[in-house]
Amino acid sequence: MTPASETELSAYALRCEYRTCPLGIDAPRPRLSWRTQSSARGDHPTSSRVIVTAQSLGPAAHTELPVWDSGWADIPDNSLLYGGGPLNSSTRYGWSIQMRDRQRRLTASCSSWFETGLLHSDEWTARWIGWEPEATPPVDPPGDWDLATTGLLGHLNRRLPSCTYLVKSFVVEAPILRARLYISAHGLYQAFINGHRIGDGELTPGWTNYRSRVQYQVYDVTAEVVQGDNVVAAVLGDGWYCGRVGPGGRRLGEHYGSRHELIAQLRVDHVSGAATTIVSDNEWVASRSGPLRFSDLLAGEYFDATRLLGGWAQANYDHSGWTPVAVSDIGHETLVATGDEPVRATEFLRPVRITQVAPGRFIADLGQNMVGRVRLTVHGANAGDRVVLRHAEMLDQDGCLYTENLRTAAATDIYVAAGHPVEIYEPQFTFHGFRFVEVAGYPQELRPEDLVGVVMHSDTPRTGEVTTSDDLVNQLLSNIWWGQRGNFVSVPTDCPQRDERLGWLADAQVFFPTASFNADVAAFFRRWMRDVVDDRLPSGAFPDVAPRVVFEREGAPGWGDAGVIIPWQLFQIYRDRETLSYCFPAMVGWIEHIWRHNPSLIWVNRVGNHYGDWLQVDVETPRDVIATAYFAHSTYLVARAAEALGRREEADRFTMLADNIRARYIEEFVATDGAVLGDTQTGYLLSLAFGLLPDALVSAAVDRLASNIASRGNRLSTGFLGVALLCPVLTDHGRADLAYALLHQTEYPSWGYAIRRGATTIWERWDGWTEASGFQSPAMNSFNHYALGSIGEWLFRCVAGIDQDTESAGYRRVLIRPVPGGKVTWAKAWFESEQGRIESAWQLRGELLGLTVRIPPGAMARICVPTSAPDAVLESGRPVTEAEDLTVCESPPGMFVCEVSSGVFSFQAPR
Ligand code: BGC
Repeated sequence: MTPASETELSAYALRCEYRTCPLGIDAPRPRLSWRTQSSARGDHPTSSRVIVTAQSLGPAAHTELPVWDSGWADIPDNSLLYGGGPLNSSTRYGWSIQMRDRQRRLTASCSSWFETGLLHSDEWTARWIGWEPEATPPVDPPGDWDLATTGLLGHLNRRLPSCTYLVKSFVVEAPILRARLYISAHGLYQAFINGHRIGDGELTPGWTNYRSRVQYQVYDVTAEVVQGDNVVAAVLGDGWYCGRVGPGGRRLGEHYGSRHELIAQLRVDHVSGAATTIVSDNEWVASRSGPLRFSDLLAGEYFDATRLLGGWAQANYDHSGWTPVAVSDIGHETLVATGDEPVRATEFLRPVRITQVAPGRFIADLGQNMVGRVRLTVHGANAGDRVVLRHAEMLDQDGCLYTENLRTAAATDIYVAAGHPVEIYEPQFTFHGFRFVEVAGYPQELRPEDLVGVVMHSDTPRTGEVTTSDDLVNQLLSNIWWGQRGNFVSVPTDCPQRDERLGWLADAQVFFPTASFNADVAAFFRRWMRDVVDDRLPSGAFPDVAPRVVFEREGAPGWGDAGVIIPWQLFQIYRDRETLSYCFPAMVGWIEHIWRHNPSLIWVNRVGNHYGDWLQVDVETPRDVIATAYFAHSTYLVARAAEALGRREEADRFTMLADNIRARYIEEFVATDGAVLGDTQTGYLLSLAFGLLPDALVSAAVDRLASNIASRGNRLSTGFLGVALLCPVLTDHGRADLAYALLHQTEYPSWGYAIRRGATTIWERWDGWTEASGFQSPAMNSFNHYALGSIGEWLFRCVAGIDQDTESAGYRRVLIRPVPGGKVTWAKAWFESEQGRIESAWQLRGELLGLTVRIPPGAMARICVPTSAPDAVLESGRPVTEAEDLTVCESPPGMFVCEVSSGVFSFQAPR
């Protein structure tokens, strides 16, 4: 065998089901994928081989038994589905990938693992357990809760139930080989074994449509379980399952159920090969006398440290006063393995400023609008002293918290001190969207080291970043990224602060392309798409929000269409064929639903709560134009999806339908001079982006769009749907100058305007705050909404220049096409695609443009270098005509175009 060092090629970032070393998957044929890298040009694997082994337990512990060998094959997509025999439950599988390079040399083998969960619902012997409703009356509402301060009770419509503490003691007799905890809740849980907190996930088990699917998590607890006496324990809070969700008040159990419950199954494998299983059942005992008195995602939390239960989750604690639990007869059918990474605390912010506003009352400014909660250190408090934390995104003109825009979300955490010299408090089952925290009742002077902002979000690994020469643009990029993190909290939400925080579909679809550059959101979105599909209405309509709560109606144009658009984008960016094929029948159902009710092919019926181009400025794009444009677009995408899935007949059928919708669109809305009904920016953008105009009218429509923007002083008027298309369409049609003018604009309405007002996240509305009117109506004014941040895609794709061919999936056919412009004199970006790392960096130096590009092995790239003199372009200092590793292509005027396979290429071109 050739030593590995002789080849430069290697695999990295091995993932199973789009996750790194997932513990507890339940896909019968998991997807295995990897990225490739090499420092040599033109490198690519000529064949690859994947081997999967199973780890055996018992006396022969950790022997690896071969279960599948893909054999040497051409695997150009860097991914394949496991093709061996049925997988066993609770089993760790190792897998490795080895490749042969161009010289047929072997690469070093690169390995990873995945572990299965409980693959069959009858393997659950645990029962759902909870507080016995008859055992004792609901625990005392916290009498000392200052309702005047928090205004909570009025919004709750019910008595306050306490969080539930649950425990079970057990003995492990024999030496332990390994231990796994399979656990979930109706509500939220934190689990403990022998006093140790298990896992680093927050807000577990996450939010799904609990009626059809409840995710369970699996933890490796080998280090926590001991031979001898043990305690397994959990605390439960209400969360999305039985707490408040969405706007307005809520009645007990309105959404999913009225009480929180736990299910837990602990499997201990012994060295001998035997196993012991400890499950949630009627032997558990519960208490509601613990310190966590109340917890709600929107309202906040109440923690009374005078009630601390000491070593309640440890062996030898006296649980004799605890109440036997109620065992429910709910089955296990809804339990599914977790599909994505949980919410985690990923960053910690110290205040940049602390102001004392009254005795014992401080306002801490974290310098960044963030999502998560506060970790507070309290010194020298007396037992019973109460510290109240309130959260806000903005201050009002008096320097006080501006909380009106939170609507009925009290976002208030209350800590009652135990009276120790130093106490640390961090809420468990809530999160807030805030930059400012008011700390009232703090016993001493609040110092920066006493308070930390704990940043929380679904832990999607970062995969890309753009940086430019322009500070405003960099701030915009930062705002987009912070908005993405803060709003990806188990589901893609609209906002993190007010009483809403719902998975609005349009927000998600317009932002998806940006999100997928910033982070690996494959697992996050494929999991959420299950809720979108599950939550369809009987008519076949996709919903407005998923999980579908509060807003129960059929999805509106551009909203419901996310059910078609996102699976298609998952396929394009991540080659996720499984999700596309899972969603395909629902995608077809959506189109047929609209078609059935709109046989004239103009979408006017069944438009749900038609939002138009939501939050556009001073204009109204005709709603029939928006709806019909989306009808055509989604129908084309269904046709493309059918094609990609090899469903020829459907591809033809939907192409024909889409062509007919387009023809009707032109007939109804497009004048012979290229004017689109309504004459709004969004009308032109939809028509151009979705390819709805006759070729002959495209340039007239572009001119109309351009003069509309110019007549507003280079300002936009687009809302959620139009804004995502604005800069891309202008650039694709030769008006990058205008796209840059909009990018650099700092007058209202613009991205720059909000930044000039100190925005550190993307605002919901262009006029969230204006000189003329101050704050917009608090009825709807979030300062952390990602939808208008959908310009991020253009910053990656056109400013930095990282793109792929329209027919490419997973960046196998990369397109590098930076479009320098505006005030930006350099830009650089990296992006970890499915294929591997892509980089593009350009800079203007005098009369020259420099462009350095990295293309991963196995990809082909078309590189477009903007230049006035294509013949004078140099690559690595040599004329391109002499360069060996690139093929010069026919180029349009003002451009040098070549094709390369992998490697790093450095161009220099006259401007
Ligand atoms: C949400 C939006 C959503 C919209 C629907 C708002 O309340 O915050 O982001 O898309 O409703 O119009």
